[in-house]
Amino acid sequence: MNITGLERTAEELVAEGKGILAADETPETLTKRFAQLQIDSTPDSRRIYREMFFTTPDVAEFISGVILQDETIRQKSSAGPSLVEVLMRNGIIPGIKVDKGAKGFAGRPGERITEGLDGLGDRLKEYRQMGARFAKWRAVIHIAEGLPTTACVRANAHALARYAALCQEQGLVPIVEPEVMMEGSHTILRCEEVTGNVLQATVEALFEQNVSFEGMLLKPNMVVPGKDAQRQASAREVALHTLRCLRRHVPAAVPGIVFLSGGQDALTATTHLNAINQLAGPKPWKLSFSFGRALQDEALIAWQGKEKNVQSAQQAFSHRARCVNAAALGDYASATEGDLAA
Ligand code: 13P
Repeated sequence: MNITGLERTAEELVAEGKGILAADETPETLTKRFAQLQIDSTPDSRRIYREMFFTTPDVAEFISGVILQDETIRQKSSAGPSLVEVLMRNGIIPGIKVDKGAKGFAGRPGERITEGLDGLGDRLKEYRQMGARFAKWRAVIHIAEGLPTTACVRANAHALARYAALCQEQGLVPIVEPEVMMEGSHTILRCEEVTGNVLQATVEALFEQNVSFEGMLLKPNMVVPGKDAQRQASAREVALHTLRCLRRHVPAAVPGIVFLSGGQDALTATTHLNAINQLAGPKPWKLSFSFGRALQDEALIAWQGKEKNVQSAQQAFSHRARCVNAAALGDYASATEGDLAA
């Protein structure tokens, strides 16, 4: 794929308020989520769980792409064709998580660096042959006293930029995900400061590695106070701080910003995305979603690992996807939750 092809895919992923389902939890992470509901975690139960989302009727109206995991991209659906084929037939673009996880950052207790650059070019080539058209790499930044360090922010930004350049070389749209975590008791202003520093370092590294901004998507956190902060923020405050931060640090050439949900519940993530889109002032990029938990949690609870619950789980997913799509267009209202459920 040339640069124009990358631009087209990036734009398609954020067209008409559509966004991305992040279904790329590692088997270990999904096993932990299943365990909370006493659901057995096997390659087959994970495949059934993923297939339930991918075959939800009409979901392509709201979901443009799905991020898969190495295990999933190699699996076949219950009807025979690969899960990748199932997605493509339903009009959904397959993507793939390609980082190898956030590991301890040497000599810096409490910080992490994302690994996976060695041999990445060859892995991307294989994934593209399997049908993937975009990829994801997640960097993890923690806020605490004295953290993050500049060393950790720069090392993660550099890895994100190397990954993004390799993706574009192999014809995949990179989703660049620097996640500032919600754990902690910091204020919203502190989150804005750290998120700004992280985005600035990331954008500079992307520029240095000659990454085409038009052919990528950014996947940041929303700017929110720490989970344990004494004072939580209103949706309007989250929108004001998030947009101010993005305007200061993200080039207008980037076609779309697809937020992660980061542990916000489904309603909160939807309300925040809507508030961000409703705020007045310049928004040169599409502001959409690439949620994992906020899109899956209600369906997972409805499913409980049981075949007889598949339909109600798909309804829960379809409803959330519809609400989040409305939020990406700034058309969501809490009343919509009920209207859209009908
Ligand atoms: P959450 O929306 O659950 O944060 O997941 C998004 C994601 O892809 C994390 O890497």
